[in-house]
Amino acid sequence: MSSQVDKSVVTTSVTLLSALVLLATVLFLVAALIGVVNSVAPDDGSRKQTAVLDRIQPVARVSTALPKPAGEVKMTGQEVYNKVCTACHAAGVLGAPKVGDKALWEPRFAQGLDTLVTHAVTGIRAMPAKGGDPSLTETHIKNAVVYMLSETGIKTDAAPAPTAEAVPAAPQ
Ligand code: HEC
Repeated sequence: MSSQVDKSVVTTSVTLLSALVLLATVLFLVAALIGVVNSVAPDDGSRKQTAVLDRIQPVARVSTALPKPAGEVKMTGQEVYNKVCTACHAAGVLGAPKVGDKALWEPRFAQGLDTLVTHAVTGIRAMPAKGGDPSLTETHIKNAVVYMLSETGIKTDAAPAPTAEAVPAAPQ
């Protein structure tokens, strides 16, 4: 009888132990599963959220930032001319001296390059200050004037010529 009791105790203990091990295993697996789910879920969610944010992007934004100081914008004389000055100086709009018309430019160049640049910067009669683009710097204007003159066949490498006669005859 006593041995029978012992046996049943052992059997019960083994069964109980097995059950505990099984429970521990199951709990471990569940925990692992939750871990996996948790590690995937937020990522998935954020990806979805990004997609939603992308879809509800505003069509346009109003920037209240001040325009970049023009000095930072690198433009060659040709680029400045093509952007701004060509509007009037290509066809001679408003009586602007046409680029390429040496007879119109020579008497103006006789004032000296610096004077031409100053006039272009401050404006002169129908010529608006900086050609109407206040973002341009004096260097931009100077480069554009030099470009316009060189397109006209007037060389500006030398110091500003005091008289028209002093302008070197540039090849046309
Ligand atoms: C809205 C038209 C217009 C634009 C744009 C314009 N100009 Fe002029 N420009 C004129 C007119 C008109 C004159 C002739 C003014 C006069 O002498 O009566 C002139 C004259 C000039 C002169 C000669 C000034 C002088 O002392 O004789 C220079 C140099 C000049 N422009 C440079 C430029 C440059 C550089 C640009 C581009 C940054 C430019 N212009 C853009 C209309 C324009």
